[in-house]
Amino acid sequence: MGKVLVMEHPLIQHKIGIIRRKETSSKEFRELVSEVAMFMAYEATRDLKLKDVEIETPITKMTAKELAGKKMAVVPILRAGLGMVEGMLTMVPAAKVGHIGLYRDPETLKPVEYYCKLPADCGEREVFVTDPMLATGGSAVAAISMLKEKGVKNIRFMCIIAAPEGVKALTEAHPDVDIYIGALDDHLNDHGYIVPGLGDAGDRIFGTK
Ligand code: PRP
Ligand code: URA
Repeated sequence: MGKVLVMEHPLIQHKIGIIRRKETSSKEFRELVSEVAMFMAYEATRDLKLKDVEIETPITKMTAKELAGKKMAVVPILRAGLGMVEGMLTMVPAAKVGHIGLYRDPETLKPVEYYCKLPADCGEREVFVTDPMLATGGSAVAAISMLKEKGVKNIRFMCIIAAPEGVKALTEAHPDVDIYIGALDDHLNDHGYIVPGLGDAGDRIFGTK
């Protein structure tokens, strides 16, 4: 069973509090989403494997540490997941970036796929899927299924706000995937929006409403 980790870090909680406010501008929203993703990347990479390497400092030889595990990739779910990529890359600059295009049909709330482009060696990488919102979970479940169909085995999911309904759907569909959550909210409303949430993440990042 994968981990479900809600971030307790005070800086993450403080920034999410500002993101949620309805008066926060798109510029500030984008900057804060990126910063939260950066802090979350720090927490979500705590368990990466290290190996010993022999190096020489200007003073002496020593045994230092180096990342030993798989190389990484960041795969945002378009559109809103794009807002988390820069922050992730600040922490993991060598990661490659893939894209999965999905939108949620406003009537059925079911995800509709429109794009998928991944690094050629994605199957060999530790893949971090990003999307600020985990609501019904339909988009995350579909995106991760697409990755698995393409041979990706090691997947982590990172979101800024999750509803309990989405966490349940994702853990049931993909029990092998670790889930990193900035804040776990109360419930979904009748339109599938997270309550209290932050509204429509894509619209707020890109200023489209
Ligand atoms: C939002 C959000 C997630 C999805 C979450 O995307 O960014 O991808 O909804 O909802 P779910 O868990 O119920 O699937 P949206 O469909 O609004 O597309 P956008 O990012 O292009 O605005
Ligand atoms: N997508 C969003 O952007 N916000 C929600 O609250 C739910 C889905």
